[in-house]
Amino acid sequence: MASLEDLIPTVNKLQDVMYDAGIDTFDLPILAVVGSQSSGKSSILETLVGKDFLPRGTGIVTRRPLVLQLNNIPHDSPLIKSPSSSSDSVANENSHSLREKVSTEEMTLEEHLRKGAPEYQKPNDEEWGEFLHLPGRRFYDFSDIRKEIENETARIAGKNKGISKIPINLKVYSPKVLNLTLVDLPGITKVPIGEQPPDIEKQIKNLILEYVATPSCIILAVSPANVDLVNSESLKLAREVDPHGKRSIGVITKLDLMDSGTNALDILSGKTYPLKLGFVGVVNRSQQDIQLNKTVEEALDNEEEYFNRHPVYRTIATRCGTRYLAKLLNQTLMSHIRDKLPDIKARLNTLIGQTEQELEAFGGMGIITSENRAGLVLQLMNKFATNFISSIDGTSSDIST
Ligand code: GDP
Ligand code: NA
Ligand code: MG
Repeated sequence: MASLEDLIPTVNKLQDVMYDAGIDTFDLPILAVVGSQSSGKSSILETLVGKDFLPRGTGIVTRRPLVLQLNNIPHDSPLIKSPSSSSDSVANENSHSLREKVSTEEMTLEEHLRKGAPEYQKPNDEEWGEFLHLPGRRFYDFSDIRKEIENETARIAGKNKGISKIPINLKVYSPKVLNLTLVDLPGITKVPIGEQPPDIEKQIKNLILEYVATPSCIILAVSPANVDLVNSESLKLAREVDPHGKRSIGVITKLDLMDSGTNALDILSGKTYPLKLGFVGVVNRSQQDIQLNKTVEEALDNEEEYFNRHPVYRTIATRCGTRYLAKLLNQTLMSHIRDKLPDIKARLNTLIGQTEQELEAFGGMGIITSENRAGLVLQLMNKFATNFISSIDGTSSDIST
């Protein structure tokens, strides 16, 4: 029996299947991180993951959407390779555990995706990343993830400053993350620099709109506390597509950089700007912290201390900080997916109908086999639509956001 906790992983699998089949996934529920350049978007994502893994630099660093699926796995998950095994048996053990975890159809797809991919071993770790474009390869060193994002960005969007709509899909598995699916988008920019095309602002805005315009998207509107909220580019953009503030969450970064004597209490308490899902204040690592190699873990502890000790924020400290933000996002995404299940089901039924027609045009349903890509996609979508989604659809729950 499926539970609410399975909602996010299930939508993640659907996202992969649809992406693999070349179907656009804009109408699947996702959290989109939106903000002006240097507002702190990447810092928030790194803190949510607990690792340094995003490219850094000046100008437009994020030039392709990064769809980031965070998967919580328990410390004793069979997905984690046993440290005592030799590499060969580790690989077998792993595929065996996978087989127990997922259904035959998913396993077949898994195998299908893995075909020809090298298996990288580093058995002691229980946190790793995997790219959809490099199936089966586990990145245990998160600085390699950063390099791969840089290479993949350059491969599609060029070495200069162009942007591309084609997303990079990265999954992170860790006992330390909560289940979340987020997309990191290029920062809203005003002035073209270097070799950027003159219409770069418009290009970036259109790209962001493709994600945030759909009602299935929750907008994480990032605004730095040291810039007046009325000038927040992210809130302006969120207001365009979500005028009643029903699916936008405000994140205020850089609280530590506000002028002394001022604070953001009114904003954080919802008195300044109306958003149904509210505002969360965070303190990320400063440029200096990063240069001094402060770890994300240390930064999280410092952040907690900052709010607990702050003369003004201590009164709302339990609703501040990145740890709280992670919980809020996880709960919000779960209940949002639950609300969207009827839509997802309807979309799937349409897709299934279309795929069946296409298959029939190629000579009948007989060609639906597990060897066959379209057949696989169809099997999986059917499974999600009938078994999984139906079983949660009817469940009542008391998730509050
Ligand atoms: P992005 O362009 O929106 O992805 O912004 P980044 O996350 O790369 O942050 C831009 C710069 O602001 C970096 O030097 C960060 O260290 C710094 N920064 C981000 N958040 C905070 C914060 O809460 N406090 C301080 N002091 N610096 C921050
Ligand atoms: Na902004
Ligand atoms: Mg960034």
